[in-house]
Amino acid sequence: MGQTGGGSWLQGRVAVVTGGGSGLGAATALALHRAGARVVVLDADAGAVQAAGNDQGLVAYHADVSDEAGIEALFSLIEAQQGPVSVLVCCAGIATPGAVVRKGAPMPLEEYRRVVEVNLIGTLNCVRCAVPQMINHRADDQAEAGGVIVLTASIAAEDGQVGQAAYAASKGGVAGMVLPLARELGDHGIRVMGIAPGVFSTPMTEGLPERSRAVVFSAVPPFPKRAGQAGEFADLVLAILANPMLNGTTIRLDGALRMPARL
Ligand SMILES: NC(=O)c1ccc[n+]([C@@H]2O[C@H](COP(=O)([O-])OP(=O)(O)OC[C@H]3O[C@@H](n4cnc5c(N)ncnc54)[C@H](O)[C@@H]3O)[C@@H](O)[C@H]2O)c1
Repeated sequence: MGQTGGGSWLQGRVAVVTGGGSGLGAATALALHRAGARVVVLDADAGAVQAAGNDQGLVAYHADVSDEAGIEALFSLIEAQQGPVSVLVCCAGIATPGAVVRKGAPMPLEEYRRVVEVNLIGTLNCVRCAVPQMINHRADDQAEAGGVIVLTASIAAEDGQVGQAAYAASKGGVAGMVLPLARELGDHGIRVMGIAPGVFSTPMTEGLPERSRAVVFSAVPPFPKRAGQAGEFADLVLAILANPMLNGTTIRLDGALRMPARL
């Protein structure tokens, strides 16, 4: 294993997973826990936070990633109680669809703002709070990694569909910050990667209204001809951690799916 991921580097290190109460984040939190990390889940769903604590035995906090002061305070608390953060995986997100014009009227700007606030600003909010801990606690051995950050974009960043103006823009923003962050943080031994999932079977997609759900799952990739499973996302996070040459790019995890303008 490389200098960052494998068993020894990850053992006992603090790994924060936002959106870790459900879907891709929950699978990642569990995989990191099994790999020996001290996992901390942040999630806006109080029930999911409780379940992560009670059922999975993880440290979990109720949090809104878009809350500037709240996230700052929480990362200080994590540092004090669990130790400095070495791994950050940002999975928290919302997928509120909506046309920009509805029956001739403009969409409420608040809808757009909230999607961008959670998916894009919420991601940077957690990154900015995790990075100082990675820098300040980097080992004296400068060959060793200071930390690894994995951001969750979406294939909508490239294949945004009708009704995804807000979601696609927010995910395009996430993908767009990966390289500049990797360049900025490289001197501190911190790698930054993005994952752009295709269609995955999670509460986000399963919870859509029946018609939208049928539409989303009708987008069958060339191979494998099915939706992705959350564990396959978690596997890629572990692969990124293990491979020190993966840095500054966003990997599409989609079975070669390319979304049409509308389904
Ligand atoms: N499932 C897919 O097909 C798919 C495809 C592409 C991208 N993604 C992205 O992957 C990520 C995870 O999606 P998922 O499918 O696991 O969804 P999910 O709904 O199962 O999980 C998302 C989690 O984020 C939490 N969350 C939402 N807003 C939050 C906030 N403001 N603060 C903290 N937590 C918040 C939710 O409570 C939930 O537990 C999202 O960013 C999503 O946009 C998912």
